[in-house]
Amino acid sequence: MRKPKDFTMKGLAERIGEIERVNIYGRVVGVRGLMVEIAGPIHAMSVGARIVIETGVGRTIPAEVVGFNGDNAVVMPFASLDGVRRGCRALVASASDKIRPAAAWLGRVLNALGEPIDGKGPLPQGSTPVPYRNSPPSAHSRQRVGQPLDLKVRALNTFLTCCRGQRLGIFAGSGVGKSVLLSMLARNADADISVIGLIGERGREVQEFLQDDLGAEGLARSVVVVATSDEPALMRRQAAYLTLAIAEFFRDEGRDVMCMMDSVTRFAMAQREIGLSTGEPPTTKGYTPTVFTELPRLLERAGPGADKGTITGIFTVLVDGDDHNEPVADAVRGILDGHIVMERAIAERGRYPAINVLKSVSRTMPKSADPAFLPDITRARQMMATYSDMEELVRLGAYRAGSNAEVDEAIRLNPVIEDFLRQAKDEVTSIGDGYRRLQQIVNTLATES
Ligand SMILES: Nc1ncnc2c1ncn2[C@@H]1O[C@H](COP(=O)(O)OP(=O)(O)OP(=O)(O)O)[C@@H](O)[C@H]1O
Ligand SMILES: [Mg+2]
Repeated sequence: MRKPKDFTMKGLAERIGEIERVNIYGRVVGVRGLMVEIAGPIHAMSVGARIVIETGVGRTIPAEVVGFNGDNAVVMPFASLDGVRRGCRALVASASDKIRPAAAWLGRVLNALGEPIDGKGPLPQGSTPVPYRNSPPSAHSRQRVGQPLDLKVRALNTFLTCCRGQRLGIFAGSGVGKSVLLSMLARNADADISVIGLIGERGREVQEFLQDDLGAEGLARSVVVVATSDEPALMRRQAAYLTLAIAEFFRDEGRDVMCMMDSVTRFAMAQREIGLSTGEPPTTKGYTPTVFTELPRLLERAGPGADKGTITGIFTVLVDGDDHNEPVADAVRGILDGHIVMERAIAERGRYPAINVLKSVSRTMPKSADPAFLPDITRARQMMATYSDMEELVRLGAYRAGSNAEVDEAIRLNPVIEDFLRQAKDEVTSIGDGYRRLQQIVNTLATES
């Protein structure tokens, strides 16, 4: 006969202790490229479930179920497949696709699995588990984009004002200065916390970014997630999810978080690699359909929260061969609330940050700009546009000074505006300083002419 049920704490604890811990195992039956097929208790596996493959020589390889093929589960590893043989045991791990962030994670550097890689000892765990892949707050429960956020970069503050909870993309070819701009924002912008995802970076660059660009002071107010280019696609993708998950944790604590990702293109490439190996059809530039469904799911997670906190998202996009119409750039531009375009020609002139103000857009402008300075901003933009139209002619010497007063002004003003837009890595200017300096420039123009 069964014992009568005991619902006291002690009784319950005993009953939990009585539950048999079952380990469910499958077996490796095939390896194809990056994919491992597992036969066995297929009913216990679902897409996204965690599997641990035991190679039998003391090495275990975490993996994730990405699909099914006939009677087998298809899994993708988080590490290299060295040592995997047919018949290896594969443990179906209890679904633990969650992490437990804590305030003590500030100043730390983690890998995609949320493990510390900075040699500063174990990572304290928080009390609430948060999922790697969360859904964004529903559209109607979200707050509106908040007050202007002082990014401490003149060119952005004045011409492309960013608000708390806004999502901006930085679009540029390789080596044009994306990472440096990102580090300036991470160090100085007026947010409570930065969460930085370095996705698919070169290993050498990670240390350079942490030590030279971010520095000890920047790191102290940041959490950095790293997956270098040599890590498996699943790790690179997971690192992007983890970055957003940590940002969401701090947002739900009511903080204004700046979430940065360098770069979204590498996330898309990781998703492409995963898609292609699971048999998805390639479309433009080999990108698979899931790339374009995953991108909005990832980027939408940034933004204002349902309550107090916000996530301001800054995402870099590598535009291959400086082609600003390549598919990932196009898709990302459509999802975000603004784009910052950086140009090689400007960087080659030595004007950093190499932002092309005329080609960049912040969709919260002009509402977010200080109305008192709006006429100055508009005037300066006009001058830049006029100069940009005439630039070729001026350079060729085909423009005769005096033929058009507006063009003459634009030519005179050009070096001053260039100077205004130039900002050294370690220079910090507030939004107010930027406005006043721009006003001065526009005023001298008015008095001189
Ligand atoms: N504000 C700046 N002041 C001075 N130099 C800068 C500035 N921004 C960028 N640079 C120069 O440009 C170089 C490349 O910058 P960065 O590494 O940020 O480019 P990137 O776009 O991230 O490149 P990649 O695509 O290779 O990651 C830097 O090493 C530095 O010399
Ligand atoms: Mg870079």
